[in-house]
Formats: sequence, C-alpha cells, structure tokens
Amino acid sequence: MCGIVGYIGNNNAKDVLLEGLKRLEYRGYDSAGIAVRCDSSLVEIVKSEGKIDNLVKKISSLNINGTKGIGHSRWSTHGKPSEINAHPHHSDDYNVVGVHNGIIENYQELKEKLLRHDYSFYSETDTEVLIKLIDYYYKKYNIGPVDAINKAIVRSRGSFALALMFKDYSDQIWFAKKGSPLIIAKGEGESFLASDVPALLSYTNKVYYVDDFECGSISKNEIKFYDLNGDDITDTKKLVSIDWEADSVNKGIYPYYMIKEIHEQPEAIKETINAYLDKNNNIDFLHIGISEKYLKSLDEIYIYACGSAYHVGLVGAQIIENITGINARVELASEFKYRNYHMNPNALAIIISQSGETKDTYEALLKCKESNIKTLAICNVKGSTITRDADFTALTYAGPEIAVATTKAYSCQLVVLYLFSIALAFSKGQIDISRYRSLIEDISTIPQKIESILNNESTIQSLAQRLVNKKDVFFIGRGIDYALSMEASLKLKEISYIHSDSYAAGELKHGTLSLIDESVMVIAILTQPDLFEKMVSNIVEVKSRGGKVISLTTDNFNVQVKSDYNITIPTINPLFTPSLSIIPLQLLAYYTSIGKGIDPDKPKNLAKSVTVE
Ligand code: F6R
Repeated sequence: MCGIVGYIGNNNAKDVLLEGLKRLEYRGYDSAGIAVRCDSSLVEIVKSEGKIDNLVKKISSLNINGTKGIGHSRWSTHGKPSEINAHPHHSDDYNVVGVHNGIIENYQELKEKLLRHDYSFYSETDTEVLIKLIDYYYKKYNIGPVDAINKAIVRSRGSFALALMFKDYSDQIWFAKKGSPLIIAKGEGESFLASDVPALLSYTNKVYYVDDFECGSISKNEIKFYDLNGDDITDTKKLVSIDWEADSVNKGIYPYYMIKEIHEQPEAIKETINAYLDKNNNIDFLHIGISEKYLKSLDEIYIYACGSAYHVGLVGAQIIENITGINARVELASEFKYRNYHMNPNALAIIISQSGETKDTYEALLKCKESNIKTLAICNVKGSTITRDADFTALTYAGPEIAVATTKAYSCQLVVLYLFSIALAFSKGQIDISRYRSLIEDISTIPQKIESILNNESTIQSLAQRLVNKKDVFFIGRGIDYALSMEASLKLKEISYIHSDSYAAGELKHGTLSLIDESVMVIAILTQPDLFEKMVSNIVEVKSRGGKVISLTTDNFNVQVKSDYNITIPTINPLFTPSLSIIPLQLLAYYTSIGKGIDPDKPKNLAKSVTVE
C-alpha cells in the first residue's frame, strides 16, 4: 500500500525524498510524486506514472531546489494509476499540499459537501477530497493546521497516514495518522517522516511511532505531537531504537532483493532461534512474558494471519496438535471477522505478521482483545501496530524484508512456532526431556541444511526452465506437506503469473484430476514417511493422465523412477521439513519469474504491506 516520506532540513529535499521512495517502492509502485517547497510561496510538484525510476528521470531534467518536501509512491485504490491521480495532491490555491496512504471510505459524501462550497476536483482520488477538506476547515474557521487536520479527521471514515504542507507554515511539515503506519525521526538539524523504517535507515535508526488520532509537525529542530483535542502530547512520546543495519536495505551483490533474502535465510533463522534459546539451550519465552505456568494453563490455540503468514499458521497448527495434546484452529484473518464461534477463554491467539501492519490481521487481534483472549504476535517489525497492541510479542529476526514476496520472514515465523510448540508440549508434560532436547537439536540443524540446499541452486535454476512456458501448475501434498505446498504455490503464482493451485493430494480424485493432461506440471511434496506410499500413488495417478511431475522429497527416499524430475532436501525430523522444502520452491518461483522477464521484487498489482481491508 502506498509509501509516504517527508523531509525538512538543510539538504536538497528531492534527493532525500527520492531515496526514501526507492526504499519504499515495495509498498506500491504504480505511480509516484514529490512536492518540494522552493520558497515560502512556491511549491513544485512533480509526478509520473510507473516505477520510481520514471520519476527520477523526469526530475533529473528539472531544476528543483528546496530543503523541505513530501513524497509518495502509489498503489492505487481510488482512481486508476495515472499522473493526474498520483500524489501529492493540492488545494486549488496550493494552500494545502499533501500525500496520503490509506482509504477515505466516505470520500464521496465529503466531496459532495465540498462541491456545495465551490470546490472543484481534478482527480478521481479520495486524497484530493481529504486535502481539500482540510483546506476548507483551515480557511472557514481560521484555526491553524492542528485544528483543521483534527476537524477533517473526525469527519473522515477509513484509514490514513498523511503528510501535509501549509502555505502559511512554510517551515513545518504536518502529519496525521489513523490506521496506516507512520514514523517520525529526528536527525541533526533535520527531521523525517515515512511509512516504514527502511526509508529512513540510512539517516537514523531512532524513530517515534505515531499512534492513531495523533497529528503533529516536524521542523528542522523540533518535532511536535498533538492529540485529537489539539493538546500537546510531545512529552508522552517515546523514541524507539531499531536494531537493523543501514546496509541491510541494500541489494549487495544480488540482482534482486528476493534472491538476497532467500540467501539470508540461514543467518536470519539462526538469529531467530538464538533469540528464544537460553545459554543452556532451553527454550525461553519468559523474556517476552510467557511463563511455563501460563503455557500449562492453555487449552487451545488460535492462529490468525494472512497470505504466507497464514500458511505458517497451517504448518504450526499441525505441529501443535501433533505434540502438545491441545487443539489449534487456524483462520485467515480476513475471514475471522465474519465468524462467530465461541472463543475459549483459556486459549491463546497467535497473530502472525511480517509487517505488523496488515489491516485484516490487526483487526483479528482487536477482535481477540474484545473477546478477552490473550494475544501473542509473531512479528518482524519491532514497534509496529500489531506488536504495540498484542499482549506478548515474539519478534522474528529476519531483518528488513523488501521483496514483495516473503521468504525469510516466512522461514523465521516457522521456527518461532516450532519453538513455541515444543515449549508448550514440554510445559504440558506431553514430551519428556529427551524428546524436548532432541527436537531443539533438530531445529538447530535447519540453518546449515538450508545452506546445503542453497549450494545446489543451479539445479533448481535449470528446473525452472520447465515451468516458464507452463500455464497451470498444481502443488500436491498431504498433512504438513499440504500446508507447505500452499506457500509454494502462492510464491510461484505471485511472482511468475503462472496459474498455480495447491491441493491436498487425497482430494485430486474428488475433482481436480479432470484438469490433468500433458500440459500440466504437478509438483508433489512427499517428506512425511507415514504418508509416502499414499503420495506415490497420487503421483502415479497424475502420470497416468499424462501430467508431468516434479517430486520433492528428503534424501532418504527415492521416487525418481515415478516422477519426471526430482528435488531432494536433507533429511530432518518430519515435523520440520517445511523449513527445508520451501527453499528449493522459493528458488523455483524466483528463477521462473526471472525466466519470464518479470521483476520478482515487484509483482504487478501487489504491495508488501496491505493496510486496507
Ligand atoms: C506473499 C506475502 C503475503 C503476506 C501477507 C501478510 O509472499 O508476502 O501473502 O504474507 O500479505 O503480510 P504480513 O505478514 O506483513 O501481515
């Protein structure tokens, strides 16, 4: 969803804004623009359709000098991607210029009100309406930016992170937030705002998180926060240190973020495992507030998440049920709001999110809170909205994930759930100390086993050639492999645009087999010893209908004779095979995307952090 940046200081604002927008491009990339205040009366606005590079090219031929400005990269909601709909937007006299991430749901009603007051509109966007509404209140009541912003906020339904410039306040940039993420940072004689940390990491790692219904201003030497009453609340705000390296947002030696992030997995998983093991190699969730006694008291687990994070939940729930003796229920966060099942007061709800900002997931968290169910967030972004509102937070240590398709965050979420399940099983007396130790030992081997898979990357790269021209690919598996296959299928479809679906292998005969013919590739995942023979039968079913099969199995099994192509992964405890199986399948998706000439970091129509419903 859109990215916004703001800068005020002594440097050329356009350079800081463009760099920030490049860093935020993963949030949206159908158009972009900046507004730079060149002097107290002149604001230059430059916009272009397409990726940020188009904007950079356009700006390079213009002479824009100013030390204050705001910028935006867009993922369109209201109004098609076009230069006119791109932000920044402005009131007709440029009294208010602004950028916005979010959606104003009642914009039509607000627009009609403004039309009655002689405002006219040049774009199809809800943002233009919001900017003009602020301008309307500012002028009508002559009340200054804070009160004008607050009045407009009260009238608007939906979500927003806003950065604004007012003609009469040329030494400040104003901001406001509800629902969409926004951070503020202070440097030496300069201040910044952005949707997300990567935009600012090369300048500072100390940020303020803006809370809902707060607004404020940044100037060269001062940051101010106000509440909805217009009261100054600056003293109540806390500066948060982000422990990500500035370098971690660069591609380094890699052509794309996605392949860099795939290769970062062994290290990221190691760091994440270490964060939850104490010096005696015992699992430690106490440092995040979860005691053994509390774990013992739980008699059900709920898991809520979207997309890949939901797929982590599907794997995790099976492990929980396998070893802890209690039930786990996994639900798409976007569907949970429509469900009305009885919630067990002794349950813990696990909320999984890389960004910590996904709206559907956040709403699932709020619904749990309303039902008095304790929540544990498994999240990659410290200080994000979900981590701030959850009862407990288990951070993943994947570092910033920039590619739209998640890889390393997915893998880190998996290991946190493994460790959590083992701690839960042990505290409930479902596993003894020797099983506890051996499970931890198995998890500790994951990073090195992933390394060995990555060392064979070229095999997968060649195999990807078999997929490039396919129209349909099916992933099949049973049990944990089925849960894993859903993630593998999502990876392939989102970055290669090949239609792909995942099926429980036992379901093929209930309908899907009719789709199988010579043109179809089936990727069969069979890492579970007790399900192996059944899976082999499913492969035979596919082969006998002419389908081509790539099988993926651990190196202690051999299905080469039954399939057309074979991928092997190192043997590991069957509970943890998803951590290994996903690696070649991420690579397969990546190289298929590359083979089709697609930019895997920025698949069309998608954005990384989904802050709308
Ligand atoms: C797919 C992908 C998405 C996210 C989903 C949830 O590769 O990345 O499916 O998993 O949008 O995002 P978070 O984890 O940020 O809540």
